[in-house]
Amino acid sequence: MGRVPPLRIRPAGPADAGAIARIYDAAIAGGWSTFATGPHSAEERRGWLAARGDRAPVFVAEGGEAVLGWAALAPFSHRAWYDGVAEYTVYVAEEARGRGVGRAMLRHLVSAAPGLGYWKLVGLIFPENAAGLALARGHGFRVVGTHLAHSRMAGEWRDITVVERHLEVPAG
Ligand SMILES: CC(C)(COP(=O)(O)OP(=O)(O)OC[C@H]1O[C@@H](n2cnc3c(N)ncnc32)[C@H](O)[C@@H]1OP(=O)(O)O)[C@@H](O)C(=O)NCCC(=O)NCCS
Repeated sequence: MGRVPPLRIRPAGPADAGAIARIYDAAIAGGWSTFATGPHSAEERRGWLAARGDRAPVFVAEGGEAVLGWAALAPFSHRAWYDGVAEYTVYVAEEARGRGVGRAMLRHLVSAAPGLGYWKLVGLIFPENAAGLALARGHGFRVVGTHLAHSRMAGEWRDITVVERHLEVPAG
């Protein structure tokens, strides 16, 4: 893919489920984005979309006719006192990476979050995921630290780095 056409970021609908599954599975195959395992089907992702509440929105970035990426917020914890903390997720199609799609989607999540009652966004990123960490840092997220041997993937212990941005307290 050459230049990415002008982006439109909008809530995901059932018709986006196939593209979401394809983009997710390609990232899973890369091995440094998520502990999740695939494959995912359009039908499974339609169920996943339908089961999400108002405070767990999924957005897609559309360039021309194509879905180039998806992004989501989800409550960080079921505990009432963490009600204002959300975990974010951003996935960009491999062929559209490095052209600002991830940046635009994370910006969208940051601006949508306060309206959903969130005061902080947290991201969980493998330390090897240079793009994921660069994306977070570029949006004013700070690295909290790295959980060591936090879970296993394909039988191997993997670390996970936590990033956060408070949306009401100035960065610093
Ligand atoms: C992480 C990801 C979303 C970035 O999306 P993208 O559209 O390629 O990123 P952008 O082009 O918007 O660039 C965002 C920043 O990351 C940097 N970046 C992009 N790819 C990079 C790479 N491979 N290595 C280092 N930095 C990189 C860019 O320079 C940019 O930094 P800047 O804002 O300081 O200029 C994308 O690589 C992806 O989908 N990865 C798989 C899923 C994942 O790991 N998500 C992160 C955890 S939620």
